[in-house]
Formats: sequence, structure tokens, C-alpha cells
Amino acid sequence: MRIAMIGGGYVGLVSGACFAEFGINVAIVETNPERLSALREGRIPIYEPGLDALVASNSQAGRLTFGDDIATAVAGAEAVFIAVGTPPRNGDGAADMQYVHAAARQIAEALTGYAVIVTKSTVPVGSSRRIAEIIRQARPDADFDVASNPEFLREGSAIGDFMRPDRVIIGLDQTRPERASRAEDVLRRVYRPLSVIEAPLLFTGLETAELTKYASNSFLAMKISFINEMADLCETLGADVHDLARGMGLDGRIGRKFLQPGPGYGGSCFPKDTLALSRIAQEAHSACRLVETTVQVNEARKAGMAGRIIAACGGSVAGKTVAVLGLTFKPETDDMRESASIPILHRLAEAGAEIRAYDPVGMVAAKPLLPESVTYCGDALDAAEQADVLVVLTEWNIFRALSPVELRRRMRTKTIVDLRNIFDPAAMRAAGFTYESVGRP
Ligand code: NAI
Repeated sequence: MRIAMIGGGYVGLVSGACFAEFGINVAIVETNPERLSALREGRIPIYEPGLDALVASNSQAGRLTFGDDIATAVAGAEAVFIAVGTPPRNGDGAADMQYVHAAARQIAEALTGYAVIVTKSTVPVGSSRRIAEIIRQARPDADFDVASNPEFLREGSAIGDFMRPDRVIIGLDQTRPERASRAEDVLRRVYRPLSVIEAPLLFTGLETAELTKYASNSFLAMKISFINEMADLCETLGADVHDLARGMGLDGRIGRKFLQPGPGYGGSCFPKDTLALSRIAQEAHSACRLVETTVQVNEARKAGMAGRIIAACGGSVAGKTVAVLGLTFKPETDDMRESASIPILHRLAEAGAEIRAYDPVGMVAAKPLLPESVTYCGDALDAAEQADVLVVLTEWNIFRALSPVELRRRMRTKTIVDLRNIFDPAAMRAAGFTYESVGRP
């Protein structure tokens, strides 16, 4: 079986490599020349654990190829996946569909025989039908069906998520049952290895599949914002948010995941998908008030975090050295999109702080997004050198192992603001630190 993957970013590259691992011949089309030449030279342009080995072995086996010629990739492909970006549109936060629509036009030109055009990108409801229209207009003779197959992998554990998913959602045009069953047959074959491990393949209509992705991400974002609000309340009332989260999460209806408080969610998905869902509802003359509120609560939280650091420094960071551990929006990724570190570091720099930052893999992606004055350090202890306050922004495991004694030796003033709760408050206080975390007494 042959398939094509349009877009070789986080989603296209991971899913393309995983499909190749299933034994499928996968041609990835990537238009960014730097990404493409890296991939062709066997370099992985993003940080994702395990991806380099997976790409190398499948490339060597000849099942995974990279190019910029869509015609070569699409010729003979039974399915063509679209995995290009859908960033927020300037102004209103709706998903910017220009890359998806451009990909649809290019696919139309390249189609040679029957193929299922599958949208993996996160797209607004109605997009699959719009893609079908674009292809039909460009190539009235083309034989194809469309499907919506939103991706649920998480950066940092993307390969495991793809290989052992909680579910695979496949939306088909159920108003045309015969066509839908032809497309279903192709996609069942694509995902056959997952049926073997009994991962649920859920077939729905196109609109339902598209909406399920936004609903899932918005629900998770809401859960994070909920625990963040509970953390604030815990601080005010002298309760402990970790015990509270455990007490809540042991209830199977609530679940333990996504109940860790922090500086506000970021990343390439939750901020844009919550905005886009709000927009989808508005355009349908409906409203998702919980989601709209989640967006506002999270924005306010990110904006307020610098104030918390400034307060911990006695009301001013002017002329003070702030050591920042972690810049990416979460550990195990180099993705800086919408990371809480961006507004926080800008605000600290504006307030006159001298910032010394360290992130294990995110510093290259961080540089264009952070204030120019930031000094990038060789490791966490280097960042802590002569610091007046140490701020933990991303919970990389390597930071958990830092020795309080060593930190104390390096820092000028012994203040820690741990926005990810990676340290034990009692241990840090015993080591002589003024220690602040989130939602803990
Ligand atoms: P990305 O920006 O990392 O990758 C998109 C890639 O597509 C870029 O490398 C770009 O150069 C390429 N591209 C754009 N137009 C092209 C074209 N016409 N032909 C060939 N290549 C083209 O984006 P990412 O993060 O992979 O996201 C893609 C989609 O998947 C988005 O809709 C996103 O919301 C969704 N998604 C992302 C997840 C993530 O964790 N990053 C998880 C689940 C869904």
C-alpha cells in the first residue's frame, strides 16, 4: 500500500513515520526547504523522543521518502493525508485554512487514480466538504472521497500515542453510503495494525469527526484551567492542590490526568483550538461559553504569572537576576508555540530583570520569540549563577534532580518560584530557600 502525507511537521512526520512502521510506503511532501533538506539528510528538524530512530529505520527500508514534488508522492497513493498547519487567523482566532486549501488544490492537480483525501490537520466543521469542493472544481474528472481523521498525539510522547491510541476517529460522508464504505475500506487497511491491538476505530460523519477534535482539546484545556483556579483558591484558603487533585481524580468520572496546576496552558493546540471552537460556535449563531471563559481565564493566568515572580522578589525585579529553568510549553518537546514563557519573560525584561535561561532542547526555537536581552546558559546550574530568584517554568525531569545545596551555593538570593511544583516545599525550605509553588501552603 502507498500513501502520501502533505506536511512534514510534528504531525505529518510522526504519523508518516508510524504509518511506514506499519509497513506502508509513505511519501512525505514538505515545502519548507530547510525542513526538507534536513529530512533528506537524515536530520530530524523537531525534537521528539524516538523519532530519529523510527525515521532512520523506515527510510533505510525504503518505506519512508521525503520530497517537494506532490505529483510523485500522490501518484498511486490510495490515501493522501493533509497534515499542514492551521494556525489562528489574525484578528478573530478562527483557524487559518489557507495552507489546507492550497494543499487541496495541489492534490487535485496531482491525482491520477482513486484516492481518499484525509484531513489530519485540526480543521473547522465543514472543512472536509470544502476540500471536496475545491478538488471537484479543479478536477471535475477526479475519482476521490474525503475523510476527516483528526490526530490526537501529544508532543513528547507522540510515537507511543500514535502506535497505541485511545481511539482513532474517522469521519466519512455518511450521506453517500457506498462512497463512504469504499473510503472506509482504504482507511481500515491503513490502520489495520491498530485493530490487531484492539484500539477503537470510531467511524462517524465528517462534521462529528471534525468537531470531536476541538471538543476534546477544549475539554482538556478547561480541565487545566479548572485546576489552576482551584490552585488559586487553595493558596487563599490554605489548602493543598495536589491532595485536592488526587481526591478529585480518584473519582473515575473525573480522572487523574490534566489536574496539575501551572502557569497556564500553551502549545500549538489548546490555545488555538479553544479560540477556533469559540469562533465555530459564534459562526453557527451558537455559543460555547465555558470554552470562551477558559480562553479568558488562561490568558489572564499567563499574564499574571510575571507579577507573581516580581512579588516574590519584593515588588521589583529591576536590576535583579532571574534564572529561568524551562522555556518550552511542556517537557520533551522543542515546541515554543504559545509557551507561557513568552509573555512571562517579556514582562520580566520590561520590568528591568536580567534573565538567565536554560532549556534542554528549546533554546534555538525560543530565541526569536523571547526578549533579545535574555542570556542562554549551558545548564541549569549555570543559569542559577548569582541569581536573585530561580523560576521553574517547564517541568523537565532533569530539573527535579537538582541539588538544593548546589543551587544555594550558586544563587545570590535564595528565592525559588516553582510554577510547576517540581520540588518538595519542606525540603526546599529546610535547605534555606524562600520557596513558592502553585496551590500549596
Ligand atoms: P507544523 O507547522 O509543525 O507542520 C506543518 C508542516 O506543513 C510545515 O512543515 C509546513 O512547511 C508544511 N506545509 C505547509 N503547506 C504545505 C504544502 N502545501 N505542501 C507540503 N507541506 C506543507 O504543524 P503541526 O504541529 O504538525 O500541526 C499540523 C496540524 O495538526 C495542525 O492543524 C495542528 O492543529 C494539528 N495537530 C497538531 C498536534 C501537535 O501536537 N503539534 C497534535 C494534533 C493535531
